[in-house]
Amino acid sequence: MPLDDLVFAACAPGLEPVLADELRELGLPATETPGGVETRGEEAAALICLASRIAETVRIRVYDGRGDGSEAARAEALRRYGAGADLHVRRAGGRVSLSVEAAGEPLHRRGWRARIGAAPLRETLAAALLRVAGWNGDRPFLDPMCGSGTLAIEAALIAARRAPGLDRTFAFEAFPGHDARRTARLRERLRAEARPISVPIQASDRNMGVLRLAQKNAAAAGVERFIRFERADAASLVPLPGGAGLCAVNPPFGVRLDEDAAGAWRALGQLTLRLPGWALTVLGPDRGLERLLPLPPLRAIPIRNGGLACQLLSFQL
Ligand SMILES: C[S@@+](CC[C@H](N)C(=O)[O-])C[C@H]1O[C@@H](n2cnc3c(N)ncnc32)[C@H](O)[C@@H]1O
Repeated sequence: MPLDDLVFAACAPGLEPVLADELRELGLPATETPGGVETRGEEAAALICLASRIAETVRIRVYDGRGDGSEAARAEALRRYGAGADLHVRRAGGRVSLSVEAAGEPLHRRGWRARIGAAPLRETLAAALLRVAGWNGDRPFLDPMCGSGTLAIEAALIAARRAPGLDRTFAFEAFPGHDARRTARLRERLRAEARPISVPIQASDRNMGVLRLAQKNAAAAGVERFIRFERADAASLVPLPGGAGLCAVNPPFGVRLDEDAAGAWRALGQLTLRLPGWALTVLGPDRGLERLLPLPPLRAIPIRNGGLACQLLSFQL
């Protein structure tokens, strides 16, 4: 029985167009669908695992049809993908679809994060925010409320063109028919894209404990020497010289962190007055806190982050 080869890359709801754009840039045809993006073929699944910064998981659909056909497909799928393959079953309206997990561990686990800290931003969501902001590493970067450092670390990895999956091993690599030479070629091609970082990347927070964690994470990601960490209140922070750049920030939500969220947004507002010409992108809760900033957003993208309604807000200062 021929198996289906539709590839589904999942992302946070709201980010489908951002992920589709990233996959097209990787050279893949991409169709948005609720909760993710579809493309085709095992090579595409491998490339997404190795190179996508935004996808959360990657699954290859092996069967989609009437329930009575799914058993034969299951047997065929286990033959092709191995007895240990992680098969996911979805039933809806008399139809059954079977998919095999291609990534294994969720893709946001890049391998650099120490598993402690209050409310870290997911690596994949940070990368999506940076893509929405048009970040490509050619202007200064600042996160004035960096917490565990996710935005600054992802910004440095993007600036260095370092693909997120180069040093990881994925579930698809254990498929019996896995083309190891093709995967090695993909890794080689991606590794060759690396380039030096030539812009200042600044990350600050008023909390010394989280700054230490951010530094540890940056060291684990291999980018600590490119990021200037500093303890500062956003209200009085002085940006590094280098001209107008991108300020990207995830202020406290006031839900998951016991802090005065409004105070943080006011401090951010004070900082924006010292960043004329900069672009500002903020991940915030969908609660109107942006009204505490001195200017309205140019664009707001609604997304869901861990079940919470949020927005990606873009400003030109
Ligand atoms: C939601 S957390 C940021 C999480 C971060 N994006 C990460 O990946 O871990 C918000 C951070 O804002 C910091 N913060 C709150 N008010 C601040 C202020 N006025 N100046 C600087 N940092 C502030 C907090 O210490 C906290 O680390």
